[in-house]
Order: sequence, then C-alpha cells, then structure tokens
Amino acid sequence: MAVSSQAPVNFSVAQRALHWLTVLLIAWQFIAASGFEAAEEARDAGTEVAGWAIVFIQSHFFAGFAILAFTVLRLILRFTQGAPAAPEGEPKALQLLATITHGLIYVTLLGMPLTGIGFKYLGLDFLHFPHVGPLKGLMIVLIALHVIGALAQQFYFKTNVMARMTRGV
Ligand code: HEM
Ligand code: HEM
Repeated sequence: MAVSSQAPVNFSVAQRALHWLTVLLIAWQFIAASGFEAAEEARDAGTEVAGWAIVFIQSHFFAGFAILAFTVLRLILRFTQGAPAAPEGEPKALQLLATITHGLIYVTLLGMPLTGIGFKYLGLDFLHFPHVGPLKGLMIVLIALHVIGALAQQFYFKTNVMARMTRGV
C-alpha cells in the first residue's frame, strides 16, 4: 500500500480532543488563579484560607501539569500525523500570521507550566515574573488573535478550518 505524503484533510480525533481539552484547562487556569489572590488576602488579614481557594490552588498546579503533558503529546502528534494545509485562497501574509501565532501559542503552552513548576518547586524565583507578567500577557494576546482568526476564517473567509478542528470535513 502506498503511503500518502499529502497533508491530512482534518486534524486527527486525538489532536482535536487535545485541542479542546486544553482550551477548557487554560480557561480553568485563569479562573483558578483567583485562589492565589484569596489566599493572599486571607494571609494579610490573618484569617484562615477558604476551602474553595485551596481547591482552586491545588487544581491550578494539577491542571498545569496536565496542560504540559497534553502539549508534549500534541507536538508529537503534530510531527507524526501532520496538520491540514492552509485553506485555499488564504492570503500568504495571513497564512504566515497563523503559523507564527500557532508556534508562539505552543511556546506559551510549554512556558506557562514550566515557569510555574520552576518557581514553585525548583526554587527558580526569577521565573515567577514571566509567569504572572509577560508570558501570561503574551498568552492572552495570542489566544485573542487566534480566536479572532478562527472566527474570521469561519464567517468572513467562509473556509473549513473550524470543521477540521471540530466535527471534521
Ligand atoms: C498552562 C499552565 C498555566 C497557566 C495558563 C497559568 C496561569 C496563571 C495565571 C493567569 C496566574 C495569575 C497571575 C496573576 O497574578 O495575574 C497564575 C499564578 C500562579 N501560578 Fe500558574 N499557570 C499555569 C501553570 C502553573 C503551574 C504548573 C504551576 C506550579 C506548579 C503554577 C503556579 C502558579 C502560582 C504559584 C501562581 C501564583 C503566583 C502569585 O500570585 O504570586 N502555575 N498562573
Ligand atoms: C486556550 C485557547 C486555545 C488554544 C491554546 C489554542 C491552540 C491552538 C493551536 C496551538 C493550534 C494549532 C494546531 C496546529 O496546527 O498544530 C490551534 C488550531 C486551531 N484552533 Fe485553537 N486554541 C485555542 C482556542 C480556540 C478557539 C476558542 C477556537 C474557536 C473559536 C479555536 C479554533 C481553532 C481552529 C479552527 C484551529 C485549526 C486551524 C487550522 O486548521 O489552521 N481555538 N489552536
């Protein structure tokens, strides 16, 4: 049987599952981060840290490890299974923008958990700043750009990119 060197039509089911699971976990990370704030306020006020804040904080660590593992798995799948080609007719500049955005999103998907683990467990205090500052900011900007791009593809360019990351074309 000949092995096709053509790009796949869709992202594989595993790639799609990991994409949407990661979206949920990232959303949770931002919500769960409010636990740190509540714990700090309680410490300042000399009161006990609320149970929900402790759960939020623990889940932030746990979800962070999960995101790291899923991202490594995703990158392995990306290199072994590939990804669909850019939609036909998409301007070269936008293709490049999408490629750069995706690449940098992967950087932040690795960077956020690694900096978190670094300052929390490895005593690398200098990694605290990027985690709560520039890397976090970059992640927010990239995700916003990515979502605007996906919506523009769907509703303005009317391409099939949403389908290949959801139900498949
Ligand atoms: C993709 C994974 C992660 C994301 C998106 C993420 C995101 C965030 C965000 C948004 C904050 C709040 C920053 C602020 O104050 O504005 C935060 C704080 C924090 N994160 Fe993460 N995080 C991730 C993984 C981790 C991991 C794996 C750990 C540790 C094992 C960790 C430890 C912490 C700690 C200790 C804080 C509190 C820092 C402080 O308030 O001084 N994070 N994180
Ligand atoms: C936390 C939020 C998100 C993250 C971290 C994320 C991450 C990524 C990454 C890294 C890729 C590139 C896949 C690859 O080529 O290897 C991708 C593709 C994609 N994402 Fe997201 N994404 C997020 C949210 C969303 C949302 C909300 C939508 C829909 C509105 C979406 C729709 C898509 C689509 C359609 C593709 C395929 C693009 C293509 O085929 O060129 N993503 N996403």
